[in-house]
Amino acid sequence: MFYEPRLNNSGLPIDPLKALVVPRPIGWISSVDGAGAVNLAPFSFFNLVADAPPIVIFAPSGQKPGGGIKDSRRNVEATGAFVVNLATWDLREAMNATSAGLPAGTDEAAAAGLTMVPSRLVNAPRVALSPVALECRYLQTVSLPSLDPAEPNDVIFGDVVGIHIDDRLITPEGRVDITIAKPIARLGYSLYTTVSETFAMKRPG
Ligand SMILES: Cc1cc2nc3c(=O)[nH]c(=O)nc-3n(C[C@H](O)[C@H](O)[C@H](O)COP(=O)(O)O)c2cc1C
Repeated sequence: MFYEPRLNNSGLPIDPLKALVVPRPIGWISSVDGAGAVNLAPFSFFNLVADAPPIVIFAPSGQKPGGGIKDSRRNVEATGAFVVNLATWDLREAMNATSAGLPAGTDEAAAAGLTMVPSRLVNAPRVALSPVALECRYLQTVSLPSLDPAEPNDVIFGDVVGIHIDDRLITPEGRVDITIAKPIARLGYSLYTTVSETFAMKRPG
């Protein structure tokens, strides 16, 4: 089959796009507002896009339920800081709970029963139980084209200035065994996968 996403003419009950670009890592973004209230939300339009220096992106799209830009974007632009927490199998229910569209200023971490701890270098806390956290300084926002002007498509860039790794993930050889953390990643529809198996391939040359 072939379809054009702008025409939404796949003939399928749900546009399959997000079931095709998989698995998408989940950036579980913590931030604070100007008054210091904690915000935590998952974003699967998320990735590492450079490594020297390390730069991540996440993309808040659309609006909050009552209208207005998403709290994560507003906070990051206002305070210049955010943390990417690794969403894992053990934290899956809490991660999902933090995607609820709660009013600005509501502590989504507390609502999901999560303890937050201070970061070292940035003014945004991290999820205490998450085994990996990237402390980020806000770099810039790029506004992408949108099919509906009322539904923004924005990409936030952040410079990773500090990295926490739970020592449990580090092998005697000094490598990270990420399968110990069991990250979860987004597929289409309401589906997820976990990183629990790996295989190695050496690059040619
Ligand atoms: C696994 C998962 C991935 C998500 N990915 C995105 C995303 O990439 N972009 C987005 O705008 N919303 C995404 N959402 C929805 C947001 O988490 C949700 O709109 C949230 O309320 C935004 O919170 P905020 O207003 O506190 O920033 C995702 C939700 C889940 C459960």
